Amino acid sequence: MARTPLVAGNWKMNLDHLEAIALVQQLVYHLERSDFEAVEVAVLPPFTDLRSIQTLIEGDRLPIALGAQDTHWEDAGAFTGEISPGMLARLHCRYVLAGHSERRALFGETDEIVNRKLQAILRHGMVPILCVGETLEEREAGRADEVVVGQLEGGLAAVTAEQAGDLVVAYEPVWAIGTGRTALPEDADAMCGLVRRTLAERFGQGIADGARVLYGGSVKPANAKALLTQPEVDGALVGGASISAEDFAVICRFPRL
Ligand code: 13P
Repeated sequence: MARTPLVAGNWKMNLDHLEAIALVQQLVYHLERSDFEAVEVAVLPPFTDLRSIQTLIEGDRLPIALGAQDTHWEDAGAFTGEISPGMLARLHCRYVLAGHSERRALFGETDEIVNRKLQAILRHGMVPILCVGETLEEREAGRADEVVVGQLEGGLAAVTAEQAGDLVVAYEPVWAIGTGRTALPEDADAMCGLVRRTLAERFGQGIADGARVLYGGSVKPANAKALLTQPEVDGALVGGASISAEDFAVICRFPRL
């Protein structure tokens, strides 16, 4: 099955709403219509930028999908400082990350919390990008596969095959995030293949064949082609390089590199 690759820029806690507008304007300047036909491009700005970027994308009819980096799982209530999935859906967010390793490591998110968030994202008609990946210690102990399968099973608990229709999973080895170190292309391919086999066991081959499995971790213009043209890799979740319009545009054009 032909899957349209997805290149999503996770800006993390970078760029205020004015910088965000400038970046998206530069990004579209660097990309051509044919680039957007070959690859789906998404940006995941901080919450305070979402409304500005939504207005820009819709006002100028830009072929860019909008996404958020996190959500609470409840629809409303006394959760000071949190953002609900309904609020994100109203801003026409198509994607929402669930279980980014920084949320897991720095904010104590367990598989159970990730699962609640993922279900909330689905309930509001958005597409979760479930992030999984092992630490260096886990890889060196030969436990990478077990950790990734465990995170998939935990994150996807109680999700039905019907709901998993457009699921996106990002394999992001923790040791490659923000370090300049990437997985070898063949290792990225093998881990994305493991993700797909796990989805096949859980939801059936049809869902697994349609799901996009991204690689994330120090994706840059120089390594994008080697990593993203692997058969099991359907695009990238890009951190640092996504806050440079030029670098992100080059990564979005990986099929042409
Ligand atoms: P870097 O591309 O900065 O390594 O970040 C990857 C990431 O965490 C994307 O979600």
